[in-house]
Amino acid sequence: MAQRKVPVAIDAARVKSLIAREEERFRVARQRSDKLWRQAQKFSPRGVPSSFQDAAPQPIFVDHGLGSRVWDVDGNEYVDFHNGFGVMVVGHAHPLIVDAVSKRIARGSHFAQPVAEVAIVAEELARRFGLPQWRFTNSGTESTLDAVRVARGFTGRERLIKIEASYHGHHDSLMVSVEPPPSEMGPADAPASVPQSQGIPRAVVELVTVVPFNDIPAMERAFKNHPDEIAAVIVEPAMMNLGIVLPDSGYLGEIKELAHRHGALMIFDEVKTGVTIAAGGATERFGVRPDLIALAKAIGGGLPCGAIGGREDVMAVIEDKRVAQMGTFNGNPLTMAASNVTLHDVLTPKAYAHFDALAEVLQGGLDNLIAEHALPFHVITLAARGGVTYRADRVRNYRDYLQTDKPAAYLSWLYQCNRGVLMAPGAEENWTISVQHTQEDVQRYVDNFAEMARDLRA
Ligand SMILES: Cc1ncc(COP(=O)(O)O)c(C=O)c1O
Repeated sequence: MAQRKVPVAIDAARVKSLIAREEERFRVARQRSDKLWRQAQKFSPRGVPSSFQDAAPQPIFVDHGLGSRVWDVDGNEYVDFHNGFGVMVVGHAHPLIVDAVSKRIARGSHFAQPVAEVAIVAEELARRFGLPQWRFTNSGTESTLDAVRVARGFTGRERLIKIEASYHGHHDSLMVSVEPPPSEMGPADAPASVPQSQGIPRAVVELVTVVPFNDIPAMERAFKNHPDEIAAVIVEPAMMNLGIVLPDSGYLGEIKELAHRHGALMIFDEVKTGVTIAAGGATERFGVRPDLIALAKAIGGGLPCGAIGGREDVMAVIEDKRVAQMGTFNGNPLTMAASNVTLHDVLTPKAYAHFDALAEVLQGGLDNLIAEHALPFHVITLAARGGVTYRADRVRNYRDYLQTDKPAAYLSWLYQCNRGVLMAPGAEENWTISVQHTQEDVQRYVDNFAEMARDLRA
């Protein structure tokens, strides 16, 4: 590794002028996307089906994907590091998934009756995460919604503790302090509960106590201030919507101990970490088993699948019909066929070894460049997930994240995009690699980063 120099601030004016140059290059090469976007705006707010897809400078309309690559409607080819916000760890149009879903759809696509694969997938999730009982949903939002309802039903309590700046999906109960503006976020040791959107009832927001990540004393105070009120603590075991924020050693175990001491449950939101950072997600990687887990994204091999898993006594609230958990598309045959193949045949031990090998190329290559150019950035990789954080020091919580260099993150996104790597947009995002990515694919990211580093220091 290159000798680490003391990080040197980057010149904001230089970043600004490089952004202007790269935005121009971006627009010139994406005129058909621009046209489609303008047409879509006539019939759809912001011209996109989900507000996340409206990213600067303009949305990129995708034509198709194959293996590690996607092609946009202007014919630009990219190595896909976005991978559908972390879903496509199987890569695009994986032959086993195409085969399984094609065969299944030829025999009917929806019945709202159980199919044989439901129990097979549930058994595999039980094996990976060490929790015995499972139900299916169609998204991460539905999974955290159901997990919260189960926890409230089980404990007979209503209040939740949530981590400042964790995103758990778009239902009201948890759209609180997801990205609170500094003017409203309150003091660092006692963050305010800030609704993320208009339209969320105040009464719902008031049921959420917000604490910083990696801060056990703050969580202790939250329990003390609300005796016998807390149903659950919900936590992303490694935060993945602030770049990547790792838990301090022992932190997750201490949350569990604290929650149980106060008669509350611990819910892991493993929508991003589940089956991507290890076969058994963060639960396996950090060695702490929660009472309930919310899964989605990568477990469905590209189809809209979510799941909740839990302790037998906790999930008994569904068994006993005390808590409603339902949905027309839950356990849909296409979703279950894709999930079955994904978990049994694609995400094998060999796949995880492949992720680790590619992560090493990214970590090593980027660490070297950051050191060589004394850039105030750092890199975190966890198997299929990883990213550059545009700050020299480790981020431990939202307040640290606010000090990341967002223009540098945006510039990096533009450099990658203009040179054939599609990253998820936003400083808070990270990359996802797939079983179909090669060493050459990930080297392209490193080479693009090298070009940016040279230009920043030119
Ligand atoms: C940690 C986490 N939980 C929940 C969700 C919501 O998942 P979905 O978009 O499938 O509803 C997301 C989405 O990015 C997420 O990152």
